[in-house]
Amino acid sequence: MNQKQNDIGAAVRQVLGDSLAYLYPAAMRTAVTLGIADQLADGPKTADELAAKSGASADHLRRTLRFLATRGMFHEEEDGTFGLTVSAGLLKSDSPLPMASIVNLLTDELYWLPAGKLDDTVRNGTTAFPDIFGAPLFDYLAERPERGEVFHTALDELSATEHGGIVTTYPFPESCTVADIGGGKGGLLREVLTKNPTVNGILFDHESVVADHGLDTPDLKGRWEIEAGSFFEKVPTADVYLLKRILHDWNDADCVRILRSCRDSMAEGGKVVVVDTVVPSGNDPHPSKLSDLAMMIVFDGKERSEAELEALFAEADLKLARVIPTSGSVSIVEAIAA
Ligand SMILES: C[S@@+](CC[C@H](N)C(=O)[O-])C[C@H]1O[C@@H](n2cnc3c(N)ncnc32)[C@H](O)[C@@H]1O
Repeated sequence: MNQKQNDIGAAVRQVLGDSLAYLYPAAMRTAVTLGIADQLADGPKTADELAAKSGASADHLRRTLRFLATRGMFHEEEDGTFGLTVSAGLLKSDSPLPMASIVNLLTDELYWLPAGKLDDTVRNGTTAFPDIFGAPLFDYLAERPERGEVFHTALDELSATEHGGIVTTYPFPESCTVADIGGGKGGLLREVLTKNPTVNGILFDHESVVADHGLDTPDLKGRWEIEAGSFFEKVPTADVYLLKRILHDWNDADCVRILRSCRDSMAEGGKVVVVDTVVPSGNDPHPSKLSDLAMMIVFDGKERSEAELEALFAEADLKLARVIPTSGSVSIVEAIAA
C-alpha cells in the first residue's frame, strides 16, 4: 500500500471512529452509575466479580470496560481482570479530586439531549435546551431542587479541581473584600479566605443555591457574608469581583449587564476577575473549543478569546489589565475601571 492509500485508510478509520465517539461518554456514565471505580479501589477484578456486585450483565460490562481501557479509563490486565488508571481513580468517591459527579452531570440528559440538537442550534442560531426542557437551564433547575442539586454538586466538585491553581496564582490584595458572584456553594471563596487571612468575603448567588453553602467552618468565623440575588439587578459592594465560569453561560448582551452590575457597585480601585477558559487561535485542540459547543447548546453562552473579553469589558466601562494562565484549563482575566 502506498502512502496515499495509508493516509486515506487512516482518515476513513478516523471518520468512522469519530462518528461513534458519543459512545465514550455513554460508557463512562455506565462505569460511574455502576460504581466500578470504587469497586476496584482494593485491586483489579474480573468483569464477573464487578457485575455480580453491581447487578449488571458480566458480558456487557466486560465489553464496556474493554472499550474504556482503550482510552486509558481503566486497564485490562493480561489475566483478564480490570484495574484502575489515574483517570479512572478520579471516579472513586474518596478521590482527593473527585470527578464522578461531573461525569454524571455532563453525560446527563440535561446535556445529552441538547447535543442531539446541535444541528438545529447551528442552523437557527438558538439554544437547544429551552426548546427541549421548556425553560432556560437555571430557571429549570430553580424549579426542580433535586436536579439543581446534581448540577451544583457537580460544579462544586469541578471547581474544587481548579481552586488550588487560582488561589496560588492570583495575588489577592491585603485586607480587601472579595465577592464571589454566582459563587455556587462557596468552594472557591472558602479557599480564597483560607489562603488569604486578611481578606473578607461575600458569597452571592440565587437564594436556593446559597442556602446550602459551605462557608460555615470555625476557622472562617466572622469573615464572610451571604447575599442572595440576581447579578442582573445589583451586586454587593466589594474590592474584587470573582466571576468564575459565569460569563461563558451568557450571550454578549447579558455579559455586559453582569459586568455593569459589578462596575456600578465596585469600590474605588476595584477589580473584576473573570475566571474562564480563554479560546486560543489556531487549530490545536484546547478544552475551550469543546466546552464552547456545550455552552452553545445548553446555555445561550460561549467561550471567548481574549479580544472578545476585552470588547465586553469596554462595553461595561472596564478595561483588560492582564491575563494570567493557571495550571488548569481556565485563565484569570483581570479588568479594572476604564
Ligand atoms: C456555571 S455555575 C458556576 C459556579 C461557580 N462560580 C463555579 O465556578 O463553580 C454558574 C452559577 O451562576 C449562578 N447564577 C445563575 N444565574 C444567576 C443570577 N441571575 N444571579 C446570581 N447567580 C446566578 C448559578 O446559580 C450558578 O451557581
